[in-house]
Amino acid sequence: MSENKTKRRRPHAVCIPYPAQGHIGPMLKLAKLLHSSPHNFHISFVNTHHNHRRLQRAHGSAAVSGLPSFRFHVIPDGLPPADNPDATQDIASLCISINETCPNALRDLLSELNSVAGAGDGPGPVSCVVADAGMWFAVDVAEEFGVPAVRFWTASACALLGYAQYESLVQKGVIPLPDSSCLTNGYLDKVVEGIPSMEGITLKHPPSFIRTTDANDFMLNYLRRCVQTVSESRCPLIFNTFEALEGPILQTLATAKITNTPDLTIGPLSFLLPKTNTENHSTIRSSLLPEDPSCLSWLDSKPPDSVIYVSFGSVATLTPHQVIEFACGLVNSEQNFLWVIRPDLVGTSELGSGAVARQLVGGAQGRGMLASWCDQEMVLAHPAVGGFLTHCGWNSTIEAIGNGVAVVCWPFFADQQTNSWFCCEKWGAGVEIGGGGEVRREEVERVARTVVDGDKGKEMRWKAREWKRLAEEASLSPNGSSYINFKKLVDHLLGSLN
Ligand code: UDX
Repeated sequence: MSENKTKRRRPHAVCIPYPAQGHIGPMLKLAKLLHSSPHNFHISFVNTHHNHRRLQRAHGSAAVSGLPSFRFHVIPDGLPPADNPDATQDIASLCISINETCPNALRDLLSELNSVAGAGDGPGPVSCVVADAGMWFAVDVAEEFGVPAVRFWTASACALLGYAQYESLVQKGVIPLPDSSCLTNGYLDKVVEGIPSMEGITLKHPPSFIRTTDANDFMLNYLRRCVQTVSESRCPLIFNTFEALEGPILQTLATAKITNTPDLTIGPLSFLLPKTNTENHSTIRSSLLPEDPSCLSWLDSKPPDSVIYVSFGSVATLTPHQVIEFACGLVNSEQNFLWVIRPDLVGTSELGSGAVARQLVGGAQGRGMLASWCDQEMVLAHPAVGGFLTHCGWNSTIEAIGNGVAVVCWPFFADQQTNSWFCCEKWGAGVEIGGGGEVRREEVERVARTVVDGDKGKEMRWKAREWKRLAEEASLSPNGSSYINFKKLVDHLLGSLN
């Protein structure tokens, strides 16, 4: 047999995340997994110019030069240059512009990748596409090129179930909300009956985009379109979750025909990544901001389970009043805390990002540390961290559960209310504070004490550690659901090569 015939063709995956931190992170983990799998996928990872530049500013050019078999490519997002190139882009504007700009840009990229395929040591033609569920056009492009695709729903399964309730809540006459006073007058405390897997849920906890007064709201309709594409999809849908945690919800999604294809839970993704990195992935980073390494040495100086870690993800912006309430509550609790204050966390405040918090935290006498960004997974894995005050973005939630950390939930928007409800009511690892954006220093003080010191905190940590054990079982054991599902995913992606 000639050498050419015996040489195995390396599959070539194009991975395209929705262009925001909470989506780039899980997609990059999945890309690393495919790259380091026994099939050694060649990866073409697609970022927008804006995020490509952010990665480069945060970590230097090594972060975007990739590896010979793990390349980064850029496409425009269609938005004008941002005033602050390091601030999170407006999500609604991004949703509009990417759908106008990215389909053709992706087509051109795939054509270009195919036109140079096989030259020298380069990769073969594109053989599959991994598309964020918010980038639905990418699956159509994959079909045009005749290669298999998967959709990656990077949020929770419970969020998808929540979004899919819009029509039934309209039929029940509870939404659209009669007017905006409903957000604060107790209307949302009503229990919504008849949603399988969500028995006892109040109107406060379906995703915020569907609890609108305006049926024409852009984000509502964008998410409805996402749900619709998922329901009509002919390709597998993957989730960064695990069977033991969200299996019953996936079952409900399938029974209600909200999902239409095999759902593959492959989370928590970090667990599936090999512990010894033979692929030299360390230069490939997903954080759009530089991480402050001193967070970890500060944690080293604290006793086990004694620190509450505070972060509200990459999108939420707080008012100066909210920042002051959190700062006072944390300082008054007399507990250790590590608080991430992103440069753009406090919107357009004339007080400047975090300036107020810095002043207040100055009085915490070494108990408090502020950072502008950190390696959150390393922080959550640190033995000193006993609790996490979070907005309940799905990545933060699954990272907390995967590390056995109890959560204090202050849901902000989108899917976060639903994640919070499941954490507190179904998974036993959380307690919720606030509501409708409200935050009171007394409540922060009380809950910070409880989560670190109180019986309720111990109970939530115990429960979270049990979830961690089940997450490990799902991902590390050859019989584990995430382990098996990842193999199924690979088989699907290899489809065009077999
Ligand atoms: C967005 C939405 O807001 C969220 O509701 C949805 O579930 C996912 O997309 P975001 O608000 O950024 O995400 O929150 P989250 O999903 O928690 O993602 C934040 C990511 O940033 C996490 O992976 C976290 O590890 C990382 N992070 C956060 C850091 O690496 N360092 C930090 O200092 C803070």
